Amino acid sequence: MNKLTHLFDRNLAWANKIKAENPDFFSQLSKQQAPEYLWIGCSDSRVAANQIINLPPGEVFVHRNIANVVVHSDLNCLSVMHFAVEVLKVKHIIVCGHYGCGGIKAALENEEHGLIDNWLCHIKDVRRFHADKLKGLEYKAQLDLLCELNVIEQVKNVGNSTVVQNAWRNGENLTIHGWVYGLENGILKDLNTSICSNEELENDS
Ligand code: CO
Repeated sequence: MNKLTHLFDRNLAWANKIKAENPDFFSQLSKQQAPEYLWIGCSDSRVAANQIINLPPGEVFVHRNIANVVVHSDLNCLSVMHFAVEVLKVKHIIVCGHYGCGGIKAALENEEHGLIDNWLCHIKDVRRFHADKLKGLEYKAQLDLLCELNVIEQVKNVGNSTVVQNAWRNGENLTIHGWVYGLENGILKDLNTSICSNEELENDS
């Protein structure tokens, strides 16, 4: 049986390296987490939340799914948002997509992929909402634009969620951001679609 011992070796080396720099790191962190950010990103192995924003464990609460979709009835995503906002009191929710996203690509092409096609329907909706903007563009430009439009749409979905609506109603300082990550250069781009109130949510739509 392959017990993946190389991963345990890597884990030990990693933990020892952190402890060498800060002997109390894990004991302090084990007592509580107080992240300021909730990251909603793609499951893609190349888009690792903590590493991209260069933050250590404890600094970012994370939810990832294929193509960073926020579905109003997705109990998993809603529960993460609820816990992050109501219990951890995060100040920022970041929806981060990425160029070259396989989920977006699959939603743009009309091939069959099985079960996942049901999930991709949410992105096909985004494609339909913005058909006029996508029309006439070359494939690569369409793909890049749909990656961005999907993030903008998901930012709105976060804003419309009961979790965020309740937080804003209670006067909490909570901002939702839309970013896209470049696989080719490792750089984040802010889509300037941040919202922190219903007024901004409505203005933006
Ligand atoms: Co992706």
